[in-house]
Amino acid sequence: MDVQLHRLLPLLLLLSWPFFRRGDHSAARDAADLHPIVILPGHSCSQLDARLTEEYEPAAPPSCGARKGKGWFRLWENRTALQDPALLPCYAEQLRLVYDPVAGDYRNVRGVDVRVVSFGTTGGFIPRCPSYRKLVEALEGVGYKDGGNLFGAPYDFRYGPAPRGQPAQHFAHFVSSLRLLVERASARNGNKPVILVSHSQGGINAMAFLDQSPLPWRRRYVKHFVMVSTGAGGIVTALRALASSVSHPPPPGDVLSLFGNTGRSFESTFLTLPSPKVFAHTPLVITRARNYSAYDIPELLAAAGFSDDEVARYRTRTLPGVLNFSAPIVPVTCINGVGVPTPELVYWDDIDAEPRVVYGDGDGNVNLASVLALDTVIGKYLGQDYYKSVLIPNATHTGILADDFARQRVVSEILQANTAVY
Ligand SMILES: *[C@@H]1O[C@H](CO)[C@@H](O)[C@H](O)[C@H]1NC(C)=O
Ligand SMILES: *[C@@H]1O[C@H](CO)[C@@H](O)[C@H](O)[C@H]1NC(C)=O
Ligand SMILES: *[C@@H]1O[C@H](CO)[C@@H](O)[C@H](O)[C@H]1NC(C)=O
Ligand SMILES: *[C@@H]1O[C@H](CO)[C@@H](O)[C@H](O)[C@H]1NC(C)=O
Repeated sequence: MDVQLHRLLPLLLLLSWPFFRRGDHSAARDAADLHPIVILPGHSCSQLDARLTEEYEPAAPPSCGARKGKGWFRLWENRTALQDPALLPCYAEQLRLVYDPVAGDYRNVRGVDVRVVSFGTTGGFIPRCPSYRKLVEALEGVGYKDGGNLFGAPYDFRYGPAPRGQPAQHFAHFVSSLRLLVERASARNGNKPVILVSHSQGGINAMAFLDQSPLPWRRRYVKHFVMVSTGAGGIVTALRALASSVSHPPPPGDVLSLFGNTGRSFESTFLTLPSPKVFAHTPLVITRARNYSAYDIPELLAAAGFSDDEVARYRTRTLPGVLNFSAPIVPVTCINGVGVPTPELVYWDDIDAEPRVVYGDGDGNVNLASVLALDTVIGKYLGQDYYKSVLIPNATHTGILADDFARQRVVSEILQANTAVY
């Protein structure tokens, strides 16, 4: 009897599955059946706290040191400081990154300690980027529970991964924290492997995280990777922002824009520049004097006022990682919006004028070319057994989580990842 039942059980489950699935997604499932999820949010969504130590010597007004030794305060995002002309220069300085040539690595400004808020929870990024609240609520609607089988991995978005062999103390710390989080999430959920869900820059970090985690570990702990709104080769929008920052230099203390004063110091600023592997020799920026393709980004950065050292770091630190964007080996579903006007070509006729933009297809941010390249870079990679690309017409870069029609699709793909047998 027993033996027969054992034999029949998989069959019964298989047969009953379609009926199971027919129910609408709002029907809460038995949480015990679900694989735990860890979410990696996009650029600038994670909140950061800072504290000033005795080592801090303000370059801006001495009053910037007022909080020295007085404990943690909100650094990102601190609306009060952003709106107070007296605090803004302090804020812009304390948020900067510095490159330390001796260590060969980026670090915080001396005397400024920075940590992410609420690592392990979604509370560390929901306040800054409310579209994740909608995603979390939708996941709760299908049986997930924030803190039980649903977790968040905020990160200090100013930093980026570095190629192997180069020091990246900060990213290494993130990798070990995330590994622990994934292991704990699994342990608390019947040892089931975890589904990683990323959005935008979170996808680049998740890829680097997986690349730096041994294959047996990946196979044991990662059931599936659902990468939302990330292409295989950067975005032309980053070049437009670069050109704009030259034509109309952001005011000193500008901390919000990608290539604003403070943004320029971030290691992550170069991360989304178009990849030569994807855009090849297509002209992306056209000026009177010459055309720039993805191969010419070093020259473009120099024309935009980056120092020789900064351009060298793009070449030696960012570019190898961009070129190495590859298959994570664990099962992947990529989900991207398409059919939304997306900057594809930048005319930068006159250094002093705002660049003109020609639009193509994409999600408003990520170009279709970058999305389609996933099929080759991940899909055709030998050893990448499961790869699925989902294109959602009319979904924008963040609308993909915020708009009902797109989010429902994202959630249904996450549910499919839960039950997929590879
Ligand atoms: C915002 O920053 C200022 C100083 O830069 C600090 O005094 C204040 O406490 C911060 N706000 C929060 C909520 O931490
Ligand atoms: C690129 O990826 C391969 C395979 O994951 C790895 O062996 C190599 O070290 C990586 N190169 C860099 C520069 O990170
Ligand atoms: C720049 O690119 C445009 C558009 O592809 C092309 O028409 C033009 O000939 C190119 N200019 C140069 C100097 O290569
Ligand atoms: C996308 O939006 C446009 C304009 O609102 C609409 O005409 C089109 O039918 C939509 N396409 C899809 C597939 O929803």
